[in-house]
Amino acid sequence: MKKFIDLKNSLDYTKLKEAAEIIRLGGLVLFPTETVYGLGANGLDENAVKNIFKAKGRSSDNPLILHISDFNMLNDIVENISDVEYKLMKEFWPGPFTIILNRKPVVPNIVTANLDTVGIRMPSNEIANKLISYSGLPIAAPSANISGKPSGTNISDIFDELSDKVDCIIDGGNTLVGLESTVVRVIDGIPTILRPGKITPEDIKRVVGNVKIDKHIFSKLEDGEKVLSPGMKYKHYAPDSKCVLVYSDNNDLLVKKINEISMSYKTPLILSTSENVKNYENKLVIDIGSKYNLDEIAKNIFTDLRKVDKFNPDIVIIEGVKQEGLGLAIMNRLVRACSHNYIEI
Ligand code: TXA
Ligand code: MG
Repeated sequence: MKKFIDLKNSLDYTKLKEAAEIIRLGGLVLFPTETVYGLGANGLDENAVKNIFKAKGRSSDNPLILHISDFNMLNDIVENISDVEYKLMKEFWPGPFTIILNRKPVVPNIVTANLDTVGIRMPSNEIANKLISYSGLPIAAPSANISGKPSGTNISDIFDELSDKVDCIIDGGNTLVGLESTVVRVIDGIPTILRPGKITPEDIKRVVGNVKIDKHIFSKLEDGEKVLSPGMKYKHYAPDSKCVLVYSDNNDLLVKKINEISMSYKTPLILSTSENVKNYENKLVIDIGSKYNLDEIAKNIFTDLRKVDKFNPDIVIIEGVKQEGLGLAIMNRLVRACSHNYIEI
């Protein structure tokens, strides 16, 4: 790592010009967005993008999102945009929303993993937006984490795993949303959610009248099964410790089940909603936030998942939330963190 730009305690965004120069020269920059931190490089430079895959240990068949700062950048990289797609972009950009569009040949194959589509997002985070506009390039950026680990939502969580692999780190404090963007592809005129996020199915339906949720959001993939989004295939967000996710609409049943499971282990760790912490007496508990404030849970969940291995538990029992609104995205990440080890009662 060569350069550290602290924008957590300063609002001097002119410093971003140096980071933009690093992007233009083909370097790697760790930068904040409103969702999670990104590991960014010039999205039109094949060699620079190669280094992203190397730094993350990411499989080359998992494509990257290109980040833009304004609509002018869009037409350079994609074509044949439909009215529904425009409507969605106009409504949800800048913001935590990624749309899969037909790419132009200028987008290198390495970015799209040889697909003829490319994911595009216009972040609302001011640091991200300025970094992109100063560099004058679409920035390819996956979430900042080693592949398989929870996405980084603050610099201290990811410093050890990434600092010596990048040319520049921009610290913008904790990210606002805490979960990655909603990924949507419009198929036969209907927006289909490939990865749930802060922009919910209800939000999308309100804008264009209909929405579908891809079935692979929760299901475990069969061997060789085809998916619309390659990222669905990979292990994600998982602590090293064994994890189980438990949910019930009936809170008494939920608490009873979690207490029951924990009895069979020597050193269980429970990730509990704030309201239930008192119901797991004498047990090791991490408070993930109020079940009435899903924004709070979303914001902290990756940091919480990163903490669990330090306790060396023989089981991590995670309380689920209702799969509604943002709860859909939280549960999508938790089901995967638990490798589909999920009990619903
Ligand atoms: O919030 C976010 O989206 C963050 C920040 C940094 O912008 N980025 C992010 O990127 O989460 P990444 O690479 O960790 O996840 C991108 C997801 C992957 O699951 C990938 O498979 C999918 O988007 N994806 C990218 N391009 C695609 C395409 N052309 N077709 C289908 N899925 C695509
Ligand atoms: Mg990721």
